[in-house]
Amino acid sequence: MARKIDSMIIRPLTVFELQAVRNFYLALSPDDRRKRFCCSLSDETISSYVDGLNFTRDTILGAFDEQAQIIGLAELVRGAEAGEMAFSVRPDKRGQRIGTLLMERLLSRARMCSAKKVFVMFLSDNTPMRRMALRAGMSVQTADGESHAARELLPASAQELTRWFLEESLAHSGYFSTLGFAQWGSLADRSASTAAKRIGALAPTV
Ligand SMILES: CC(C)(COP(=O)(O)OP(=O)(O)OC[C@H]1O[C@@H](n2cnc3c(N)ncnc32)[C@H](O)[C@@H]1OP(=O)(O)O)[C@@H](O)C(=O)NCCC(=O)NCCS
Repeated sequence: MARKIDSMIIRPLTVFELQAVRNFYLALSPDDRRKRFCCSLSDETISSYVDGLNFTRDTILGAFDEQAQIIGLAELVRGAEAGEMAFSVRPDKRGQRIGTLLMERLLSRARMCSAKKVFVMFLSDNTPMRRMALRAGMSVQTADGESHAARELLPASAQELTRWFLEESLAHSGYFSTLGFAQWGSLADRSASTAAKRIGALAPTV
């Protein structure tokens, strides 16, 4: 049964998941790479971009499916004046509000990190990103084919901080149980097929 998107697991990734982030970005088509990074990037450039990610200083949120696979990423890179955000959702999962949920979570995270302002850059013909930005209350300015959306942030209240940490710990535990179930399923499949092979090997050939 498909899980309700509202209850989707979204959690900050750790450096141990760097390879999964790399694989996610490398799987993007040339057009999606252009949309995500506002320019065309080779595999090598994407790979070194991922190597340069700072999982401690910055935030990389991952959205996960029922198999504990990454289906969306949101990044928040801290800057002196403002935090820069970026989003990508796996093509087969788009249009299901995953980008919007990632945006909501990343804005909360930015407030938890005391960012006073955030912005996101995108190509001006990127309608889904523009709509996401507008829905999040950002003001959008466009020049020379590129758009810049920005928004001031209020500091998080104690109640919001508590809620964030609660949601984050639930997301981590939800992720590990999903991962456990997914791995248990594949182990069970593997042992079933090994058992079937063994049975075949012992059966007399007629
Ligand atoms: C931008 C992106 C992250 C949006 O992810 P998503 O999960 O499809 O987004 P959502 O489903 O939350 O939709 C966001 C908005 O775009 C609209 N939208 C979604 N797909 C659309 C499409 N193909 N055409 C027009 N609008 C679309 C939705 O209706 C929604 O608008 P609304 O809130 O006004 O109804 C995704 O398209 C993507 O990964 N693009 C490639 C990378 C990229 O462009 N990144 C942005 C630059 S950092």
